[in-house]
This record gives sequence, structure tokens and C-alpha cells, in this order.
Amino acid sequence: MFSEKFIKVLKSAQSVTVLTGAGISAESGVPTFRGDDGLWKKFKPEELANFDAFIKNTELVWEWYKYRKKLIADVKPNPGHYALVEMENIFSNFSLITQNVDNLHRRAGSKKVFELHGNIQKNYCIGCKKEFSDEIIFSKLEIPRCDNCGELIRPGVVWFGECLPEDQWNEAEKATRNCEIFFTIGTSAVVYPAASLPYLAKEHGAFLIEINPEPTPVTSIVDEFLQGKSGEILPELVKVIIKK
Ligand code: OAD
Repeated sequence: MFSEKFIKVLKSAQSVTVLTGAGISAESGVPTFRGDDGLWKKFKPEELANFDAFIKNTELVWEWYKYRKKLIADVKPNPGHYALVEMENIFSNFSLITQNVDNLHRRAGSKKVFELHGNIQKNYCIGCKKEFSDEIIFSKLEIPRCDNCGELIRPGVVWFGECLPEDQWNEAEKATRNCEIFFTIGTSAVVYPAASLPYLAKEHGAFLIEINPEPTPVTSIVDEFLQGKSGEILPELVKVIIKK
């Protein structure tokens, strides 16, 4: 399954950076965004995942996020998430960058996680930025409002047209520039700036690996394309690393 060259690089590497997308959580039962069964086939991102839509149609956007919060709370990390926890324990310098808001990497036990698109379990006031737990969100039937300033509370995710959290992005870029191996896993690699990271890694001399059942725009520049599901390939990869 793995080339000789890849195994050699894997066995000598100290610093590894991983970028994940919705595909890593697919085997947990979290729908991806693109593809035939993707969320963006049934729903329109411009009606649900941007700030203007939230202001214009707050009830609908909250309904959608409450539905996704419940779905995500009910699923569990899969063998792909757990394999990345093992890799964090094996490599002395390991960083995990995710576009996912589902918190499944942390629930699996990953520690150094940079969340580029926020976290669906968080909520904050659009006025004073006070944070609110999901318990408070679900305890209200009406649209949630801040008890401090009266403004709307919103989900703690990054919407289209918004900036990424600066600290998370800076750390992600640093980890990408400084790694020997860079993995891009379960992402269609079309949403920027996250999609620029594999190119940045390559520019800085990293060995680039992609895990995905389908080719993506990044596939043409990777050193190794491992075609298949991350929940199956990553545990096999860990077995190879452990033998080193
Ligand atoms: P996408 O839905 O665009 O892509 C998911 C990728 O996962 C596809 O390339 C699939 O082929 C792949 N895939 C499916 N099942 C897999 C499996 N079992 N193992 C590995 N890969 C699998 O999701 P993202 O690339 O994460 O942003 O999307 C990026 C961003 O677009 C999201 O963070 C979200 C979305 O709109 C915002 O909401 C801002």
C-alpha cells in the first residue's frame, strides 16, 4: 500500500503536519459538504453560512446550526481520528490543522489542534463577544440573545467571507512551513486559504501525502496519493510507523 520511498521518509521524520477536512469525519457519520451526498447539494451556503444570511434569516440559520450541533454531539470519533492521536504521540513535533468544526479530533484525544473554521460547540455574542454554552442555546426556544448586551448570539464557526482566527492561522502556517511531512486528508482542497497550505508545505520542501477516495486539485503535486478512506488507511500507516 505504501511506497518504499514514503516508508523511508516516514521512518526518519521528526516533524509532521496534518491538514484535515470533512472527509475524516465521514466515517463517523458527519456529512461532507461537496460530492453527491454533500450538504451543499441540499442546502445553499449563501443562505446558511454567512453573516448577512444570519442577520436576515436568524431563525433559519439557528435551526440549521442546532440540527448540526445535535448531529455532531451524537457521533463518535472514528479510527482515522484515533490514528492521528497515536501519530501525535509518536512524532516529536506534530501539528494537526483542521477545517472541521465538529471537535472530533479533540474528543479523540488530539492535543495540538488548530481549528481554522472555528468550533460548532462554541457560541458568542455578536456585540460584546461574551461566550455561551450549548446548554444555554438549547435551553431557549426563541432566538438566543446575550444576557449582557441584548445582541444576537451566533455559532462559533467561521462563515464564508469572514477572516480565519488569526492565531490559529498563524500557527497553521508556521507548522506548515516547518514540517518534513505534510498530510492533506479528507479535504476537497478548494476552500482558501486552507487549500493553500499543501502548496506552502511543498514550497518549503515537505514530502506531501494525500489521503482521499477521490483525486483533488492538490493530487497532481503530491508525492504520494493514498486513495481510499482515512479511517482505513491511517491505522495501517500507524502500524508501519510503530515498526520503525
Ligand atoms: P468537502 O466536503 O469539500 O470535501 C470532503 C472531501 O473528503 C472530499 O474530497 C471527499 O472525496 C473526501 N472524503 C469523503 N469520504 C472520505 C473518507 N472516508 N476518508 C477520506 N476522505 C474522504 O469538505 P472540506 O474540504 O472540509 O467551510 O470543505 C472545506 C470547507 O468548505 C469546510 O470547512 C466548510 C465548507 O464549506 C465553511 O463552512 C467555512
